[in-house]
Amino acid sequence: MKKSNKPRHIPLYDIKLSKQTLKSVNDTLKSGWLSPGAKVAAFEQAICRLMQTRYGTAVASATAGLEMVLVALGAQPGKEVVTTPFTFVGTVEAILSAGATPVFADINPHTLNIDPDEVYRKITRHTIAVMPVDIAGYPANYRMLKKICDAKQIPLIADGAHSIGALYRGKPIPKYTNAAVISFHATKNLICGEGGIVLSKHKAVIDTVKIMSRHGLTSNAFQRKKAARWDYDAVYPGYKANMSELHAAIGLGQLAVFEKEQSLRRKLAGRYLKNLADLQPYLELPTEEKHCRHGWHLFIVKLHLSKLRIQRDTFINRLAEHGIECGVHYKPIFYLTYYEQILGETGQYLPNTIYAGRRVVTLPLYPSVRLSDVDYICECVAKVVKKYGR
Ligand SMILES: Cc1ncc(COP(=O)(O)O)c(C=O)c1O
Repeated sequence: MKKSNKPRHIPLYDIKLSKQTLKSVNDTLKSGWLSPGAKVAAFEQAICRLMQTRYGTAVASATAGLEMVLVALGAQPGKEVVTTPFTFVGTVEAILSAGATPVFADINPHTLNIDPDEVYRKITRHTIAVMPVDIAGYPANYRMLKKICDAKQIPLIADGAHSIGALYRGKPIPKYTNAAVISFHATKNLICGEGGIVLSKHKAVIDTVKIMSRHGLTSNAFQRKKAARWDYDAVYPGYKANMSELHAAIGLGQLAVFEKEQSLRRKLAGRYLKNLADLQPYLELPTEEKHCRHGWHLFIVKLHLSKLRIQRDTFINRLAEHGIECGVHYKPIFYLTYYEQILGETGQYLPNTIYAGRRVVTLPLYPSVRLSDVDYICECVAKVVKKYGR
C-alpha cells in the first residue's frame, strides 16, 4: 500500500459532468423544444443498445418506472410482490404506490442480494411479481430466480437501479427478466440528474408504460407536432412520469464517457480489494464470482463486528475524523418509521438482513476519486480496525 500523509476531504459522491454533457444541454436549451422529443428517443435507443434489450421507455425516475410496470402487470390491493428489504426505499414505495403488498425475502449475507430459496418460500397464489435488486451493481442470482419464476409463471421484474454496467453470464440484466428498470439519479453510474428507463423484450410492456407515463395519452406533443395532428385519447390510467428532453440531453452527454468511467470504477474497486485484502479478519470485501461482472456502483464492506470493539457508526465517525465520508446502503426497510408502522413485524424473521443492516459501510467510489485517495482511505481503515480490533 502506498503511503501518503496529507489529510483530505473525500466525499461519498462528487459529480463531474463531461464536456459533451455541457454541450448537449446547451444545444437542447437553444433548440426551442424541452418536452420529450428527439433527445429522449435517441437516449432510449442508446440505452437499449448498451443493455442489449429490444424495447425501452425513458421515465422520470426508476421509482415511477417500477410502479407503472407493476400497475401494467395488474398490481392492486390483495396482490403481493416478493422483494428484498435490503434496498432503497424506492423499491418498496413503488410496490405500495401500485396498490400491492411487499413481501420480504431474506438476503444472501455475502452478496447482499435476495436469496432465491427465500423467494421460493415467500411465493403465494397472490404473488404477481418477484423483484430483486442488484445491490451495489452486483447481479442477483438470476439463474435460480428465473427458474423459480418460470416454474411458477410469475414475472421477474428487476429493480435495476444499480445495474447498469453489470453482466450476468456475459449479458446485461434485462435478458433474464420480464422487465428491468434502471435509475439515472444523480449518484448513479450513468446520470441524467433524475430519470430512469424501463427495459423489456416484450413490446406490449413498454408500449403500455410509455403511454401511462404521459397521462395515459396515445400521443405526446412532439408526435402531434410532427404528424400535424392535434387529436389524442387517454387509454390507460395516467402518470406524469415521462423523461424530459433536458434530462435526456444530460444522459446522452454522460453516455459518451460511460465506458471510460466504468473502467475507472473497476480500477478503483480493484485497488480497494488489493489494499484491504489483509484486513479480512476485520471486514468482508465485496465478491465477484466468475459468471458475474460487478457494475461497481457502490463499494460496500461488511464489518466483522465480533472482531471489533466498536459498532459500525463509530467506525464511520472515526473515518470522518480523517476526512472520509462514508454511507450506509442500506438501513433495512422495516426499520424506517413509516414502513415499520405499516408493515409491522415483517423484519424479525430476516436475520441476514438485520445483521447486514448493522455492519455495512459504503466507501467512496466514483470516477473522480484518485488511486491515491483509495490508498489513503485504506490506510485510515487499517488504522481504525487495528486500533479497535479484538
Ligand atoms: C435500489 C434502488 N431502487 C430504486 C431507486 C429509485 O431510483 P430513482 O431515484 O431513479 O427513482 C434507487 C435510487 O437510489 C435505488 O438505489
